[in-house]
Amino acid sequence: MQAALLHDVSNVVPKDRMMSIAEAQSIDIIDEELRFPRIVHQKLSKDMAMEIFGCTNMAILNAIECHTTLKAGASPLDKVLFVADKISWELPGEHPYQEMMRQRLEVFDLDGAILVYLNHVWGQRDKLKVMHPWLIEARQELLASSKHLA
Ligand SMILES: [Fe+2]
Repeated sequence: MQAALLHDVSNVVPKDRMMSIAEAQSIDIIDEELRFPRIVHQKLSKDMAMEIFGCTNMAILNAIECHTTLKAGASPLDKVLFVADKISWELPGEHPYQEMMRQRLEVFDLDGAILVYLNHVWGQRDKLKVMHPWLIEARQELLASSKHLA
């Protein structure tokens, strides 16, 4: 519940101030986040959950921290928050990957739903500003450990 409520709490911060606040909070920022500062909101939300809301549950904090990109070695809570985040987006237009994710979830295939999304992003890598290394590593790990095809 806390993970669901707090994962996007940093969106109260104007986008053009996210990076400076993250730096002031000594959050570890990587090159990909500097190039596309919006991604840092997952780490900033974790920091705000700790500092402002007093959350000390590391399982919740970790899930918040990777809810946009996932990461290798993700916990079940990390995965559930990640998938919930992606299928709850109300996006204009057709987004077949969301329906494909729901189909995987209907048969309790959480990793399969994740791979649908990660493969969708991977397929757009030439168009995207950045590919976060956590997302790449999460995809590689799932592909290596599962029966799912790229
Ligand atoms: Fe988010």
